[in-house]
Amino acid sequence: MLINKENFPKVALDEMNSIHDVEIDIVNRLYEALKDFKEGKVSQEEVSKLLEEFLKDVQEHFKFEQGLMEEYQFFAYPMHKGEHDRVLMELLELKKEWERSKNPDILIDYLENQFVPWIINHVQTMDTVTAMYLSNFLK
Ligand SMILES: [Fe+2]
Ligand SMILES: [Fe+2]
Repeated sequence: MLINKENFPKVALDEMNSIHDVEIDIVNRLYEALKDFKEGKVSQEEVSKLLEEFLKDVQEHFKFEQGLMEEYQFFAYPMHKGEHDRVLMELLELKKEWERSKNPDILIDYLENQFVPWIINHVQTMDTVTAMYLSNFLK
């Protein structure tokens, strides 16, 4: 398991927590598939499919938060969106790298050492402040 849902930070908006939960499931499945791919138990296509699914989910996740921030004119919207855009670019690069090299170690390393610390920190800071702000309108 890459991320344990049990001790993943929660924010003040249930919809955001649900989206994070779904994303954790998807990224955990991708991570397991990468490990299994290394042992020849999973095909390249299966990994590509899960990577695609993960990317789509991240895009939806970010779009959802950005939509609410715009709608309710959240003051730190540009900063929050900037972080989303930066990580999305990294993930798109990672996908290209996978298509090029089919090297699971690059993805495993990115997920463990970049994505996990980033998402935990992001949820504890920007998502937390954003959810607190939005909960004034949405609860
Ligand atoms: Fe989020
Ligand atoms: Fe966010």
